[in-house]
Amino acid sequence: MSNNTEDQITQNVLESMANTPDRRLKQVMTSLISHLHAFVREVELTEEEWMHAIQFLTRTGQMCDEKRQEFILLSDITGTSMLVDAINHRVSGGATENTVLGPFYREGAPELPLGANISRDGRGEPAVVSGRVLSTDGSPLAGALLDVWETDENGLYEQQDPEQPEMNLRGKFRTDHDGRYCFVGIKPVSYPIPTDGPVGQLQRALGRHPFRPAHIHLRISAEGFAPVTTHLFVKGDPYLTSDAVFGTKDSLVVDFVRNTSEEEAARYAIRAPFYTVTYDFVLQPQEHRDGTT
Ligand code: BEZ
Ligand code: FE
Repeated sequence: MSNNTEDQITQNVLESMANTPDRRLKQVMTSLISHLHAFVREVELTEEEWMHAIQFLTRTGQMCDEKRQEFILLSDITGTSMLVDAINHRVSGGATENTVLGPFYREGAPELPLGANISRDGRGEPAVVSGRVLSTDGSPLAGALLDVWETDENGLYEQQDPEQPEMNLRGKFRTDHDGRYCFVGIKPVSYPIPTDGPVGQLQRALGRHPFRPAHIHLRISAEGFAPVTTHLFVKGDPYLTSDAVFGTKDSLVVDFVRNTSEEEAARYAIRAPFYTVTYDFVLQPQEHRDGTT
């Protein structure tokens, strides 16, 4: 153990953890050290590169506060968040796929009647979003809760933009006896994730753009079912194949159909032109995911 040569050091570090009481911690750290040392060997990391990385991680930490989580952003742009998400939310039976929560979710959005409009500033092109929440066996889920949020037409969430009213473009909706939901939002726009920190610098250095394809966020939950955190993406968006955070899933891309009828718009207390989207969300019974049945 005293001879910490290039050949011997990995084994020495692994042996130093032999008495770790927590088995999972030991497994995770053993794998992490093995991969980290293999990476350093593979690229023959220089001391300048190593110091550069330390400084990058330091700046990433220094950028974090209650409103900004630069480490999550780093996890997002490296595809790590979505990989963890995929491993932890394997779905079957046609259940709706999960995708990233993102940093802009807020607790406490108001619960609104079905059909209500979540835009409080009247900006953007109205979009009527409706459909049902179903179980994987096809039965409708009454009383399921949809918590939705999206950016304004300028690509900013309300907490990023002092011009927007509190809780603009956020709302909670409960499905009716038939599992139906309906709300009015706006046709989402593609927007850049924050670029003013070390993660933005890294993205530029990698020749990547910071845009996410246009999407509406939704968290859907129902008693006895595994909740799903997901998006609806706009079909035809130019960034669908290069999402900065790798959040896209083909099953979540939907048609926003343009409608120019003032008469139909009046039913939702909006003006034409507007868009309609229909999408059914499918939840898995909780016990299927826990493996208890
Ligand atoms: C979002 O969609 O809100 C988001 C997700 C990951 C990083 C930044 C923003
Ligand atoms: Fe978003």
